[in-house]
Amino acid sequence: DWTSDTFIDATIAELKEKLGNDKVVMGLSGGVDSSVAATLIHRAIGDNLTCVFVDNGLLRKNEFEEVLESYKNMGLNVIGVDAKERFYEALAGLTDPEAKRKAIGRVFIEVFDDEAHKIEGVKWLGQGTIYPDVIESVSVKGPSATIKSHHNVGGLPDFMKLSVVEPLNTLFKDEVREVGRALEIPETIIGRHPFPGPGLAIRILGDITAEKVKTLQEVDHIFIKGLKDFGLYDQVWQAGAILLPIQSVGVMGDERTYERVVALRAVGSVDGMTADWIHLPYEFLGKMSNEIINRVKGVNRVVYDISSKPPATIEWE
Ligand code: XMP
Repeated sequence: DWTSDTFIDATIAELKEKLGNDKVVMGLSGGVDSSVAATLIHRAIGDNLTCVFVDNGLLRKNEFEEVLESYKNMGLNVIGVDAKERFYEALAGLTDPEAKRKAIGRVFIEVFDDEAHKIEGVKWLGQGTIYPDVIESVSVKGPSATIKSHHNVGGLPDFMKLSVVEPLNTLFKDEVREVGRALEIPETIIGRHPFPGPGLAIRILGDITAEKVKTLQEVDHIFIKGLKDFGLYDQVWQAGAILLPIQSVGVMGDERTYERVVALRAVGSVDGMTADWIHLPYEFLGKMSNEIINRVKGVNRVVYDISSKPPATIEWE
């Protein structure tokens, strides 16, 4: 029978055998899969593993700093790269969701490759691919900002002549979490909701600007913190906020306002392939709406997405 402990022992032994004294580079996303994969590889080869965590400017509020700190506390040899401006530049004026995904995927690979080239003699690329990624090797909506889903299982850009090592490619998500807990990875990483590689770029409908990202980060932060404070976070598979490309009329004091609309989304799911919208308590939704409108400048209306997948998708783009 499968247990996380036997899996961990066997995997570390295999990795030692396979990697020997070779160097490995790996991109971390802050998510469960890449964090668990990196921890296993690190247990096997120590600082011959170099991790790269890229700030694409599309992460949640404070996420880059917080996650980088956790990685360092976990003993991982991790390089944090602030590439926000490179991503914003590449995204400027793009409105088509696929064009945004492609731009993000391209810049990620450029940034990652720059870092990989700095590691002398690196031979392997570590990846957090899990079993469902292997069977559905074609992502539903196309490439993401991670090499993993950008190039899927098929291969890598030619300029990265690295072999791939994927210690989690036989596991399902719940098994990855179990392994992560056994490895004592912090619960803030293990229990984290899934978050798309292109990040907030596919939750800002239309073109991306730093100012829109900032607005959405504030909204998202209030919503996610609210879910945690009300004990709802762990009952939700994935949640987030979407910045809509419309303005609506409102009133503040004696003034008419004409500002942005945000949608909140919270779904239950097992694997993201199907999803049901969650019946969050009205009281909670009311609190979130008040807080968002009172605290986030430029937003005067909040709506809640009550669509399930199919026929809707989890993300709006
Ligand atoms: P949808 O919107 O297709 O999302 O119902 C299903 C799951 O996939 C995530 N998602 C992505 N993840 N790159 C990613 O890494 C992407 O381009 C992408 N698009 C959607 C989404 O957040 C949800 O968990």
